[in-house]
Amino acid sequence: MTDGSGRVEELLASMTREEKLRLVSGRGDPAGTATGYLPGVERLDVPPFRLVDGPLGVRAEGERATAFPASIAVAATFDPDLAREKGAAMAREARALEQDALLAPGANLIRVPHCGRNFEYYSEEPLLAAETTAGAVDGIRDEDVVATVKHYVANNQETDRVRVSSEVDERTLRELYLRPFRAAVEAGTGSVMTAYNRVNGTYMSDHDRLVDDVLKGEWGFDGYVVSDWYGTESTVGAANAGLDLEMPGVAIEGGFGGVGDDGDEGDGSFDGADLEGEAAEIMGGLPDGTTGDLFGDPLADAIDAGEVPAERLDDMVRRILGQLERIGRLENDADDRSAGSDGDGDGDGDDAGAIDTPAHRDLAERIAARGTVLLENDGVLPLEDGADVAVVGPNVHEAKLGGGGSSETTPFRSTSPAAGMESRADGAVTVARGCEPIPDLSLFDALPFVDSEELDEPEADAGIGIDAADPDIDAAVRTAGDADVAVVFVRDRTTEGKDRDSLRLPSRQDELVEAVAGAAAETVVVVQSSGPVELPWREDVDAVIEAWYPGQADGAAVASVLYGDRDPSGRLPVTFAPEGTYPTADERRYPGIDDEAHYEEGLFVGYRHFDRDSVDAEPTYPFGHGRSYADFAYRDPAVVDDRTVRVTVENGADRDGREVVQAYVRPPESTAVERPTRELAGFESVPVPAGETRTVEIDLADRALGRYDAADGWVIDSGTYTVELARSARDVRKTVDIEFEDGATP
Ligand code: BGC
Repeated sequence: MTDGSGRVEELLASMTREEKLRLVSGRGDPAGTATGYLPGVERLDVPPFRLVDGPLGVRAEGERATAFPASIAVAATFDPDLAREKGAAMAREARALEQDALLAPGANLIRVPHCGRNFEYYSEEPLLAAETTAGAVDGIRDEDVVATVKHYVANNQETDRVRVSSEVDERTLRELYLRPFRAAVEAGTGSVMTAYNRVNGTYMSDHDRLVDDVLKGEWGFDGYVVSDWYGTESTVGAANAGLDLEMPGVAIEGGFGGVGDDGDEGDGSFDGADLEGEAAEIMGGLPDGTTGDLFGDPLADAIDAGEVPAERLDDMVRRILGQLERIGRLENDADDRSAGSDGDGDGDGDDAGAIDTPAHRDLAERIAARGTVLLENDGVLPLEDGADVAVVGPNVHEAKLGGGGSSETTPFRSTSPAAGMESRADGAVTVARGCEPIPDLSLFDALPFVDSEELDEPEADAGIGIDAADPDIDAAVRTAGDADVAVVFVRDRTTEGKDRDSLRLPSRQDELVEAVAGAAAETVVVVQSSGPVELPWREDVDAVIEAWYPGQADGAAVASVLYGDRDPSGRLPVTFAPEGTYPTADERRYPGIDDEAHYEEGLFVGYRHFDRDSVDAEPTYPFGHGRSYADFAYRDPAVVDDRTVRVTVENGADRDGREVVQAYVRPPESTAVERPTRELAGFESVPVPAGETRTVEIDLADRALGRYDAADGWVIDSGTYTVELARSARDVRKTVDIEFEDGATP
């Protein structure tokens, strides 16, 4: 037993049952900033414990924090080090706001392109999601804050999220959906949050097999498992399944349901009967808020009745105290949060976190730029410094910070697209909105009775004033026609609690792009979206950029890419395809029938689906796609050993660039079991200066080479594996072969 656990055991031995129960079910935060709160045990110097939302930034109630780019933008960098840096920066900000645990990262796979929370997640690809998740966890942990990977597991849609059962087979769970969570455990996450949904009929808070057997047993997870908010479904079932902490613990009188315009008392149902339209749909995504304190008196009763072993309560407390200890909160002076660095790089670790520092602002901009994907370019980009530019779009006066719901972050400052373009351009900049602003959509709008403190608008960069004229497509067309180039900014709108109805851009934005493209000498479109969107005009414009939700640095980051100060080095972490061609285009699969979503596509999600012979549809832009301003050639591919390949990348352009080398494996043809055509097994983002070469070594992931067998677990079939060195799942440049003998193990 380590010293640390000695301290935890000592505390456990001194605690009354009452005190233990107070550590496993949340309470309201007296300071009012935390998303979840435990009062601690004053008598024993166990301090209060605060949990706060992420994953785009810290959402402490009534406080500002850096609004980082959305998670999907981080994944688009194909650089887990940036996830690590963002995780560490968020953790420093959490500490500065006196929080102990971050409710981040979100690690669910992007199965459904419509999912309202795709911007909070990473990818359709389990390896990319796993590595990015591990990076984020590592960064948060490093700064002595508890990371909470969420939402375990198969929480892939917002429609009916609190009722739906994800009907999914074991192999698919193992090879796809569980992988990012396992990576989080391997990276040392302190906490795992259970999802609202059911898996194969059982609510995740009560899922004995996936929580107790797989997560804690097989993977050896020694942190605590926390419920999603109001997502604890029972006392006995959840306690025995391995849930350690109920959040938020306190119920809302009347619940969420039934509270409507007429002010009726709620009845705890979630049909949102009194609300209309979008608000009613969002209500469908809310849990039953009338339940709470299931781990309070009811747990004591269940222990007395012999339904839950008393040791289970000790185990819950041990796991929670273990994390407090790990982040230094059980040290003598529990209020001294000086452990860890203050982010200024001087290693003195002498302050309590850091917030809105120049380093954090710079990181927010760097990640936004690095995650930007150049989808198309006929040569108009990078823009000439002196070009006269018309900046067009309904929301060009506001940065796209994120989507709605628990990840909403209020920054100290932000740069709108118009301000970012104006401060970078040497030529004239004119602005026209073209159509009415696309309003943000938020889960909180459906909760008028939730008293969320409104902060003033963040400080916006000085610069171009708001275009006062009524938005009008004809006026935008005239503005665009007078410039050398029109840059049109378009966006989608998403929130936790509701899926997108369509992959088309909302309102009249498609019409606006078409009209501008018909009049402007050259047209560039910058898309700010949560995930895949349909771009029906893409062949009528000269360049298209996917900038995701870039966060507070929006205009500054986008301008730096448009003008070529930075190479667009993002690559797609999701396949872009026509709406009807995704594997979830079948109602049984999504949103499901009779509260069951059947994952019948199995492993064939994302590019694995589009690669199938039986699928007669092409992606619009494949997974991994993204162009550069440089020009890369691949040569000298080689096998280093059976887990490592090598290739040399040459930049033939006269400008520096950054390439993302992707290694896909194709399993042996002889494999008797059906497998995807190719799976991403490794990747590396590498800067290559103008005219130079870089040799890149890529480690191949065991779980991409292997497959999960119900009887034998992870196995590697014998035979010849072809490793494709590629620029996307559809742009293979070189191949090498690796042989595996019988009996190789992952
Ligand atoms: C979300 C979680 C979030 C929690 C606390 C839930 O609605 O699903 O991701 O951490 O609320 O705000």
